[in-house]
Amino acid sequence: MVGVGEKSWIIRIRKFGALVLCAAVLSLAAVSVDQSAYAQQGVAGPAAPDASPTGGAVPGDVLGTSSDAEYWRAVRGGVQGNVSIPDKKAGTLVQSEGEAWRSFRNGPMSLYASWAMLGTIVLLGIFYALRGRIRIAHGRSGQTITRFKAIERFGHWLLAVSFVVLALTGLNVLFGRYVLRPLIGDSAFSFITQMGKYLHNYLGFAFMLGLLMIFVMWVRHNLPDRTDIKWAMQGGGIFSDKLHPPAKKFNAGQKVIFWMTILGGVSLSLSGWQLLFPFTTHFFGGTFDKVNLIFGTDFPTVLTALQEQQLATLWHSMMAVFMVCVILAHIYIGSVGMEGAFDAMGTGEVDLNWAKEHHSIWVDEHMDDVHQKSSAKGAAQPAE
Ligand code: HEM
Repeated sequence: MVGVGEKSWIIRIRKFGALVLCAAVLSLAAVSVDQSAYAQQGVAGPAAPDASPTGGAVPGDVLGTSSDAEYWRAVRGGVQGNVSIPDKKAGTLVQSEGEAWRSFRNGPMSLYASWAMLGTIVLLGIFYALRGRIRIAHGRSGQTITRFKAIERFGHWLLAVSFVVLALTGLNVLFGRYVLRPLIGDSAFSFITQMGKYLHNYLGFAFMLGLLMIFVMWVRHNLPDRTDIKWAMQGGGIFSDKLHPPAKKFNAGQKVIFWMTILGGVSLSLSGWQLLFPFTTHFFGGTFDKVNLIFGTDFPTVLTALQEQQLATLWHSMMAVFMVCVILAHIYIGSVGMEGAFDAMGTGEVDLNWAKEHHSIWVDEHMDDVHQKSSAKGAAQPAE
């Protein structure tokens, strides 16, 4: 038998047990609601009581004094970490020079490049308007003299055609998205740009071959000598139809074009090579070293592989734009600017009067060629 006093105790214990059970169920529910709210936000909930072997201390006897901010500041500053893959460049997470490179390339460089090319075209237009076409003062003689052999013309046109295609496809990379893309639309622009990239990559070799050919064939005719001084003093006779300073195979103006083509072409080829085969060549550190020695400048001589590549793209673009300006002037004088000039690279035969006016010393040395050529063509014979 259970007494009344005992009964009330049993009831109290049961009530207490029920209360404890309810509290346990409620707290469990509360925890799971809490955690799922964190999960929805994609973050971990509050950490469970510490159970790590170090008891919460920074392992490895490190003080743990560097904050996240300091860590990311170092990464942002370009500190190179270690990686186990062969490409050690991947150890640099953020390379700030990339930002400077992009803003210089898309900013001042593109701006001045477009001004330089437009300025050259405007100047040539003004020159043409004032001077007109430079005529053969004594008219055509009907006799010709061989100016360039087939192999010379082949070398020139290999260089010229490859340069023009390289210039157009290269300028498309620099300005196409602003100039061409709005005109022809995204699909056509991306197709043209991709084809242009392949052409640009492969035609670089044709350009180098053409450059080598004209260098070997014409270098001896382009060494400076005393006739150049006289020619330059008379402004090349370019401002008057009556003035014709004597010149050998190439006059001083052409020698300048020749050396600009060779030096600019070599520089374009080397920087282009560096871009075509990235991270295999490092030209800038060594060059800066020599430039610093000669001019007392303070260019950095220790450059990372990525900095080398970035400098190569900038230098390649600047040299290309410089060459485009020089060659625009050359194309002008070799075509519309001067009567009879194009024949030299067209058929290889120029009118004798043209040759006497622009290259009198060279004609004197090659009178035999005139005689033979004119007799071979059945034209008038010079008196014996
Ligand atoms: C695409 C149009 C071009 C035309 C119409 C043209 C025309 C000519 C002509 C007529 C000559 C011979 C001048 C003479 O008889 O004395 C010549 C020479 C020469 N060309 Fe071109 N050329 C062109 C493009 C180029 C290009 C793109 C380059 C170099 C990248 C180049 C480099 C040279 C050089 C170095 C010479 C010898 C030096 C001189 O005459 O100035 N040409 N060109």
